[in-house]
Amino acid sequence: MAIDYQERIPNNVDLSEDRRLKRALEAWQPNFLNWWQEMGPTQFQANEVYLRTAISVDSKGWANFGHVKMPDYRWGIFLAEREEGRTVNFGEHKGEAAWQEVPGEYRGNLRRLIVTQGDTEPASVEQQRQLGLTAPSLYDLRNLLQVNVEEGRHLWAMVYLLHGFFGRDGREEAEQMLQRHSGDVDKPRILGAFNEETPDWLSFFMFTYFTDRDGKYQLASLAESGFDPLSRTCRFMLTEEAHHMFVGETGVGRVILRTCELMKEHGEDKVREMGGIDLTTLQKYLNFHCSVSLDLFGSERSTNAANFYSMGLKGRYGETKIDDDHLLGNDLYPILEMEGDKFVLREDNALTVINERLRDDYVTDCERGVRRWNQIIKRQGLDFELKLPHRAFNRQIGSFNLENLAGKRVSPDGRVITEAEWTQNVGDWLPTDEDRAYVISLMQSVTEPGKFANWIAPPARGINNQPADFEYVRLN
Ligand SMILES: [Fe+2]
Ligand SMILES: [Fe+2]
Repeated sequence: MAIDYQERIPNNVDLSEDRRLKRALEAWQPNFLNWWQEMGPTQFQANEVYLRTAISVDSKGWANFGHVKMPDYRWGIFLAEREEGRTVNFGEHKGEAAWQEVPGEYRGNLRRLIVTQGDTEPASVEQQRQLGLTAPSLYDLRNLLQVNVEEGRHLWAMVYLLHGFFGRDGREEAEQMLQRHSGDVDKPRILGAFNEETPDWLSFFMFTYFTDRDGKYQLASLAESGFDPLSRTCRFMLTEEAHHMFVGETGVGRVILRTCELMKEHGEDKVREMGGIDLTTLQKYLNFHCSVSLDLFGSERSTNAANFYSMGLKGRYGETKIDDDHLLGNDLYPILEMEGDKFVLREDNALTVINERLRDDYVTDCERGVRRWNQIIKRQGLDFELKLPHRAFNRQIGSFNLENLAGKRVSPDGRVITEAEWTQNVGDWLPTDEDRAYVISLMQSVTEPGKFANWIAPPARGINNQPADFEYVRLN
């Protein structure tokens, strides 16, 4: 399915056939570009960056690589191909033909789902806008900017749905997307993790590993939606998201590798002296980003989430591959609860705890990467194991948030502890101000092709198989 690049807004949705929608989006476009200039990457807007652009949405080689200036990036509207005869696959409408228009009674709920997802896309661009100044290499700089332009495109994806299917409310929501800003006291982004700073590259890699992966799971369950345009939009977004998580996983992996090299060369306790990031600090960053991202899945028990499922708006991860009735009215699902000083698994109605199921799928996925990181350490012959923190550790949302713990706390290894024990040890579990200052002190831009900052190893191979000294960003 070819993308029309002759149009002002590249698209594969026959935008030229819908004059009203085309006009509305063309009116939104300059506002988007203004936002990009003001809130997007602080530098390199005039430089040529080796970016990939979608040329078609089928699985084979949708990406086209070339040097482009970011403001000239062809942001547009790309939906995965329509599946003939697709039906609603779960909930009360199971078996009906998938909806091509918004069902009137679900309008408010669908809009809310789309706005919440859409808001995260520009938020992450805002969070990362300063990072280009301290990129550890041109390769990494290019990856950052690629992630940024694609998050910008994800905003386009959601704004298309708002403009195309939600009339005037949708247009207003699309405007709001550019009004809220990450960390803004008056108009913050909707979700907590998207108001945190991404002040350094270790945080960026952890963010793209843990928080973009939350995005994957949200998009995957929206890709199951009975509202077909949302499903098709999310299916294509997922193919872009994969690269963001690749940047995170390999980024953290390369930091680990470099740290191991320094440990072997200079002694296990000499990493900071030699300008590397010690594994203990890395574990603290991991604890932080994992716990903040776990919150993004919402409360364990949620009537809203149950309703979204029953209405056919948001499914489970891999919905159509699950072998059950896809109604869940009578099913049970185990969730973790704190009982006294212990954790127990208790069964609850599968619909009510559907958020928890998605969180479980997410945690399993997170564990895979941690295993690969540990293999890097092992292959270097060193004895250290990174671990995901217990899911009750450092939570703000749901049954393990502070209020619900009523004076108790949970350690990363899942022990229920007192406030005093927490205060005494929290500096070993989460990055301290001193840790953050140290990591930030390492951040210095390296711009010579093929060179890398001292705290990170080069990647195993280049983007699109380019040679090691490829000029990913042309600085002059
Ligand atoms: Fe995204
Ligand atoms: Fe992403």
